[in-house]
Parts: sequence; C-alpha cells; structure tokens
Amino acid sequence: MKNYIIALDGPAGSGKSTIAKVIAKNFGLTYLDTGAMYRMVALYILENNIDFNNVADVENILNNIKVDIIDDKFILNGKDVSLEIRTPEVTKIVSPVSAIKAVRVKLVDLQREISKGKKVILDGRDIGTVVFPNADLKIFLVASPEERAKRRVKDYASKGITEDFETVLKDILERDHTDSTRKESPLKKAEDAIEVDTSFLNIEESVQTISNLIKEKI
Ligand code: C5P
Repeated sequence: MKNYIIALDGPAGSGKSTIAKVIAKNFGLTYLDTGAMYRMVALYILENNIDFNNVADVENILNNIKVDIIDDKFILNGKDVSLEIRTPEVTKIVSPVSAIKAVRVKLVDLQREISKGKKVILDGRDIGTVVFPNADLKIFLVASPEERAKRRVKDYASKGITEDFETVLKDILERDHTDSTRKESPLKKAEDAIEVDTSFLNIEESVQTISNLIKEKI
C-alpha cells in the first residue's frame, strides 16, 4: 500500500501518545512524537540557563541543538534524554518555548524530513493544520481537562514523580491556553479533522475507534 500520513492532534493529556504507539505497532507505522521534540529544545534551554522570554537568545542557540530519535529513544546532542524531557520543570516551560517561530521552523522541517517516504502517524498540535495540511487522515483528540489531569497524575506516578491533581490541572489549563492562543501554529482542529472524545473511552476503546477510521478512510 502507498505511503500515508496520519495526523493526530489534540491538547495535553488527551491520550495522543499512548494511542499513537499502539496504532503504529498494529498498522506497522513509524510513530513520531513531535511534542518530545519541543521538549528536547525546552530541556536544552533549561540546562543552559537560557532566558526563553528572550527570542534572540533562543534563536542564537538553536544551531547548537541536535535532536535525534532512535527507536523510542529521544537523543539530545548525543545523550538519551527520554526521561528528563518528561519532568514537570520541562513541562512548565515547553509551551512558551514552542511558541517561538524559529523553534517551530527548525522542528517542522525535521518532522517533514523524518516522515518522507514512510507510513507515519505523528502526534502534536499543528500536524493537520501546518505540518501536513494534506495528511491522509486527520484526527483531533479531546477529553475533559479533569480527565486529562487525572491521566497525567497517574502517568507521573508511574515514573516515580509525585504531583498533586490541582497543580497538574492548573498546568494543563495554562498549557491549553498558551498553545491555543499563540500566534504561531496554534492548537486548533483542522476543518477536515475528525474529532474523537476520549473522556469516557479507555485505551482499547480509543484505539478501536481510531483503527476503524484508518480502515474506513485509508
Ligand atoms: O505532546 P506534549 O504534551 O508532550 O507536548 C509538549 C508541548 O509541546 C505542548 O504543550 C506544546 O506547547 C508543544 N507542541 C507544539 N507543537 C506540536 C507538539 C507539541 O507546540 N506539534
């Protein structure tokens, strides 16, 4: 079958990465977690004490950042940072960092390059609107903020990080706001995307819903 692109967009905690991983395995697709790429840039900024409010400073260091994805490992300048990019500290600054145009240009180029000539599922915020506006299938995942916060708390706990529900909910609402009101590639549903609400679906049910869409549309 020909190569194709599946765009899976939605807010933080809507289930994108969990679902995309299973779909990729079941359909033999390459999975690209674009949020992890923004997180790697945010981690570099954090580790090097760069002021992310100073756009010129961020632009100046972008050439020092080499982002690689090898299997399911995220490699920043040769070092595996798969765990470090998931900490609350990185999560706190990733939205303002990803609102910077030069950061997006660099990473969108890389996302297109990695996807070339493959069957790919990409998860993110702007895949169906900006990165691949001609994607073969566009899905926009949503879930209530409370449900998303509940999932994040569980997710943190599985990594040994303790965060309380109210703090995580506040962070999610803040990120939703920053991501959807920014000037560059805001989080929004593409006109031709299919919305799937996972608030009342477990992982298997969400995967089933999306698998049916793939079989139907591609
Ligand atoms: O998906 P995840 O929560 O890991 O994404 C982290 C952050 O990266 C998001 O809150 C958003 O600010 C940014 N992001 C983005 N565009 C994407 C993917 C993620 O701006 N395609």
